Amino acid sequence: MPSFEFFSPCPRGLEAVFVDELHEIALRAPLEVSASVPGGVYFTGGPAAAMAVNLHSRIASRVLLKVAQQSYHNENDLFAFASEQAWEDWFTAQHTLRVDITAMKTAPVRNVGFAALRVKDAICDRLRAVTGARPNIDTATPDVRVFVFLSATECTLYLDTTGEALFKRGWRLDKGAAPLRENLAAGILRLSGWTPAVPLYDPMCGSGTFIIEAAQMALGLAAGGERHFAFEKLQSYDMSAWPRLKAAALEAQQIARSQHRELNIFGSDISGDMLVKAQANLERAGLRQLWLKQVDACAMVAPTETPGIIVANPPYGERVEVRGQAPRARGQGHEMQTGRRDQNEFFREAQPDEASAEFFRAFGDALKQRFTGWQAFVLTSDRGLPGQMRLRAAKRTPLFNGPIECRLFRFDLVTGSMRERRSDEE
Ligand SMILES: C[S@@+](CC[C@H](N)C(=O)[O-])C[C@H]1O[C@@H](n2cnc3c(N)ncnc32)[C@H](O)[C@@H]1O
Repeated sequence: MPSFEFFSPCPRGLEAVFVDELHEIALRAPLEVSASVPGGVYFTGGPAAAMAVNLHSRIASRVLLKVAQQSYHNENDLFAFASEQAWEDWFTAQHTLRVDITAMKTAPVRNVGFAALRVKDAICDRLRAVTGARPNIDTATPDVRVFVFLSATECTLYLDTTGEALFKRGWRLDKGAAPLRENLAAGILRLSGWTPAVPLYDPMCGSGTFIIEAAQMALGLAAGGERHFAFEKLQSYDMSAWPRLKAAALEAQQIARSQHRELNIFGSDISGDMLVKAQANLERAGLRQLWLKQVDACAMVAPTETPGIIVANPPYGERVEVRGQAPRARGQGHEMQTGRRDQNEFFREAQPDEASAEFFRAFGDALKQRFTGWQAFVLTSDRGLPGQMRLRAAKRTPLFNGPIECRLFRFDLVTGSMRERRSDEE
């Protein structure tokens, strides 16, 4: 069985939990973690390793197979290097192609776009020379993606085994206003130390990303069980392990769906429109049994007597208004309820800044008064948030939401720290 080198990018800040996850995935298909760098992890393994990571990782963004690496000085070297690779072993001129490039600031190329063009031309020329035809370019839904990484001295060529980025699980119908990427949500759940036995509550659940990720984790569902991957289209990719890996994932899915397990996972939002979206996403993800409620986070109460974990990424710099009525939940699940209109009026009338300051103070008060014993994890790009909430952060973890630098604040809502206040945390 050949062993390949892979690079798997992930949201910055999640590398350590991604390595932990890879060690768990190694029980399904052998792989070895070689190194972790900001924004990704290198590992080695056979074709099954990439399949298992694509199918099971909740934190990876994609899985790239290293084709070749060489030193270079300019765009002409890139063209020559890309021409030498046996791309015809992996795909044909009937496959559509896209070439992506990432260059460090120190890369000795004048124009990154032009460098990508040279690599694309080299691949197309190579295929025409060997097979008599050039592949078509498709930037939207290509069959094959080649990734080029340029450091100051080295060019690395990768073949993508993923296709659409892995955070696209296949269940999201409507994105809502500002959905959290699924892999960032999953990474935050891991960073929080949450396990399915512990109650989990997202009081600003929006389209439901945290609660859907958590429920799928609790039920042991494969992150990519509902979607396809680029390796399925690559010729000469050894697919012998795929039926076994896919069958095990499908079996877990069927067992989970037949059991109707009660999950300790709760979501609420002030917006009925968002809850309609969350409900549709839950159903598409096969998770009808989750509890959803329309309520202002300032008026929230603990959904369980046993303390648990709160996760949230609150709105930032936007005016908060109640929109729409929540639908009534179908089936035997919990009922969604309409929120308090008196609280809601406030959000309509206040100025955005005042509304935001008032909201975070009231949200902090709700945590202090009604969530003793819970831990809250709040993701925000606003470093002053603990001050606004009048709570002391026990931990702050830098995380990147795409290009936006954020902090994941942990608040331990124990009696002793409840009165502790700091005006500004950083
Ligand atoms: C950044 S979005 C959260 C996105 C969510 N994590 C997702 O993945 O879709 C913030 C959410 O907070 C909700 N929200 C704003 N003010 C609120 C309030 N006072 N109480 C409860 N939810 C509120 C908004 O309706 C929105 O859905």
